[in-house]
Amino acid sequence: MRNIIITGGAGFIGSHVVRLFVNKYPDYNIFNVDKLTYAGNLANLKDVEGKPNYHFVKADICDFETIYKLMQDEHIDGIIHLAAESHVDRSIKDPFTFAQTNVMGTLSLLQAAKLYWESLPEKWEGKRFYHISTDEVYGALEMTHPEGIVPPFSTKASSGEHHLAYGEKFFTEDLKYQPHSPYSAAKASSDHFVRAFHDTYGLPTVVTNCSNNYGPYQFPEKLIPLFINNIRHRKPLPVYGKGENVRDWLYVEDHARAIDLIFHEGKVGETYNIGGFNEWKNIDIIKVLINTVDRMLGRPEGADMDLITYVTDRAGHDMRYAIDSSKLQRELGWEPSLQFEEGIEKTVRWYLDNQEWMDNVTSGDYQRYYEDMYAKR
Ligand code: NAD
Ligand code: TYD
Repeated sequence: MRNIIITGGAGFIGSHVVRLFVNKYPDYNIFNVDKLTYAGNLANLKDVEGKPNYHFVKADICDFETIYKLMQDEHIDGIIHLAAESHVDRSIKDPFTFAQTNVMGTLSLLQAAKLYWESLPEKWEGKRFYHISTDEVYGALEMTHPEGIVPPFSTKASSGEHHLAYGEKFFTEDLKYQPHSPYSAAKASSDHFVRAFHDTYGLPTVVTNCSNNYGPYQFPEKLIPLFINNIRHRKPLPVYGKGENVRDWLYVEDHARAIDLIFHEGKVGETYNIGGFNEWKNIDIIKVLINTVDRMLGRPEGADMDLITYVTDRAGHDMRYAIDSSKLQRELGWEPSLQFEEGIEKTVRWYLDNQEWMDNVTSGDYQRYYEDMYAKR
């Protein structure tokens, strides 16, 4: 494969995937197709924008004609689809935009790929449609062990001092979908369309469902970058509910490496879960963030604990996410490269060193949206 569309390449995870592919595969042409919503930022890709194998195309994935023409003009033989509306809180306020981009946008890409590839003499040969999804489509797991138990799995990501599971059950690939938020409902729907295109037309698809990502270039409406920035500026930290909800965290570059591996070696028609067996209660992560930011800024460790502010819980807030990624580890030999403690150090350091990036992305519209949303809490 030589000509690849990566959608949503100006976003958080997409920018890491674009960077990896542009640098690792100089003989591939990478077309970053992004509409540049509030979450898309070309500053995330400054270091690759001058490379001869990198091409930016500003387009909406819902615009079928543009996508279809791009596929024909550039002889596209692979699509890695990350573009989406991705924030649960926004989906609660504005579900239509989520259905439009996540469902209709995915359908538009699927149809463009199907029509173009079907028209070629070799048809599906050497083609791939890779859809990036989330663990949130599986719904929520119960927190049967609030104090934590020794988990049945361990990986590099989870090998630090804290290594607990908060229930016996994990998300496996064969679980039925039970999305709760408009975001996860829209992602689930798009996953169903991808499967339908494989089962009905034979489109060579692969789907992955990953746990929460963290790392550089994440838009600061999500927990980790938002809280790092607030701690730095001594602003309140809005903890939803009791802060007991559990998420399973993976360093974004480990996700990007998994995407590279699965794009090249994943089996057509398969689904793979991606995660590092690294469960954390929100409140425990928040304490780690406060201690880390304080230490790096030369403040006494823990000095900013009083910023923790418990606020009204998120509607329909999923209790626990925990991915079982043993299929991916067993079949394709992937494993995370970073321990959580190392990943958090790198991440906090990056946000503290890149205040200009933070100021740029939090100016204007976003700032107004954010203030409006929290004024209503
Ligand atoms: P993000 O919100 O940071 O980036 C989304 C990107 O998509 C932005 O660049 C935006 O401009 C672009 N985009 C949005 N609507 C578009 C449209 N209609 N046409 C073209 N481009 C459009 O998202 P992210 O956190 O990087 O997530 C990327 C993908 O990974 C999503 O599909 C998400 O569901 C999935 N995912 C995310 C996580 C996570 O923790 N962030 C975990 C698992 C899966
Ligand atoms: P988030 O980063 O929005 O990811 P997701 O909802 O996709 O898991 O939130 C991670 C967790 O942090 C989730 O349980 C909600 C919680 N949270 C807060 O407590 N306060 C906040 O301001 C945000 C953004 C999230």
